[in-house]
Amino acid sequence: MAAFDPALIRRDFPALHQTINGKPLVYLDSAATSQKPKAVIAAIESYYAHDNANVHRGIHELSRRATIAYEEARGKVARWINAAEPAEIIWTRGTTEAINLVSMAWGLDNVGKDDEILISVMEHHSNIVPWQLLAMRTGATLKYIELDDHGRLVLDDLPSLLTARTKIVALGHVSNALGTINPIKEITAAAKKVGALVVVDGAQGAVHTKVDVQDLGVDCYAFSGHKMCGPTGIGVLWARKELLESMSPYQGGGEMIHIVGRDASSWAEVPHKFEAGTPNIAGAIGMGAAVDFLSDIGMDAIAEHERSLMEYAMQQVGAVEGITIYGPDSLDERSAVLSFTLGDAHPHDISTILDSDGIAVRAGHHCAQLVMKHFGVAATARASFYLYSTKDDVDRLVAGLGQVRQIFG
Ligand SMILES: Cc1ncc(COP(=O)(O)O)c(C=O)c1O
Repeated sequence: MAAFDPALIRRDFPALHQTINGKPLVYLDSAATSQKPKAVIAAIESYYAHDNANVHRGIHELSRRATIAYEEARGKVARWINAAEPAEIIWTRGTTEAINLVSMAWGLDNVGKDDEILISVMEHHSNIVPWQLLAMRTGATLKYIELDDHGRLVLDDLPSLLTARTKIVALGHVSNALGTINPIKEITAAAKKVGALVVVDGAQGAVHTKVDVQDLGVDCYAFSGHKMCGPTGIGVLWARKELLESMSPYQGGGEMIHIVGRDASSWAEVPHKFEAGTPNIAGAIGMGAAVDFLSDIGMDAIAEHERSLMEYAMQQVGAVEGITIYGPDSLDERSAVLSFTLGDAHPHDISTILDSDGIAVRAGHHCAQLVMKHFGVAATARASFYLYSTKDDVDRLVAGLGQVRQIFG
């Protein structure tokens, strides 16, 4: 494998090579969605140009090719996260749909009014609202692990929060708003002692680090293609096969049935039981290509690059007068996200001024309003990094923040 060189990697990403407002683009919004390498764009184009057909339905050549490519992509994702077999990979629209699938398909059958669902204040809304909906429909109680002032979970509370009634523990692997990496393995071990189902929102996890779902010991792991160099509208729910087999279908329609009668039907085998309707075939193939792309570079090399970039970013951005950085100080506990405020400047103004300089950062609550409330802010600005981000990007950000300071005094 060649040495990791972001300058070489950047050549694979056409969108990075453009000017915005007359300045070379600095893309620091990868936590919202990553840019796409040529290999992923080519895989999608090739599917539509040569193999476009519906999957699992035709005996003709194109349908055969489409089905093979679609199922091969499932196999790639399975190997990538060390699933026991491809059947454990359910294609969804993304993390959000994967979590909703578990909350409805497992939750409605297994959670009752005396039960508890444990989540945390750190969660993305996609890992809060589905559980609120489940709690509303079942009468179950929703409980929260709190945050400390460094944006870490207060795990000292865990023994008292986990009870014989805890049916589900649903947590993010990595916080999109703070970058905090949660100790999923340890929390899972504790949750398993009370027999809870452990659901992990891996939208910001599998993207940056090698994930081994069997080693983590969790029951469900959800992630999205578009945050890991793949296309939008495709994602994955991984769960153990026995669990998936025990679950009711989530949606009904074509593809997910075995036999349809007038009053009742029987279901296709897992994973198809959970894939009603024509799936996002091009999306799955594109996500498979993204897995190949990331695997060729190596997740360990990507993680190492991001760690050294974060070290630099924390130092450089941290030295800007008036800056407040949210989230853990330790690089062991922080992924490639830098959330900050600058004096009294509103994060939207920060983002607008940076955009005029060609620098894309996100400003807002980052779909984590409970995190904002915890820190007593309405919003933060967020720079997020990926394998193609460089120290130059950080330098441009710091220079841009200098301009923000000049404007706001
Ligand atoms: C931590 C986290 N969870 C869930 C999601 C939702 O992902 P998607 O919109 O791809 O379903 C995101 C997206 O920003 C996220 O960062």
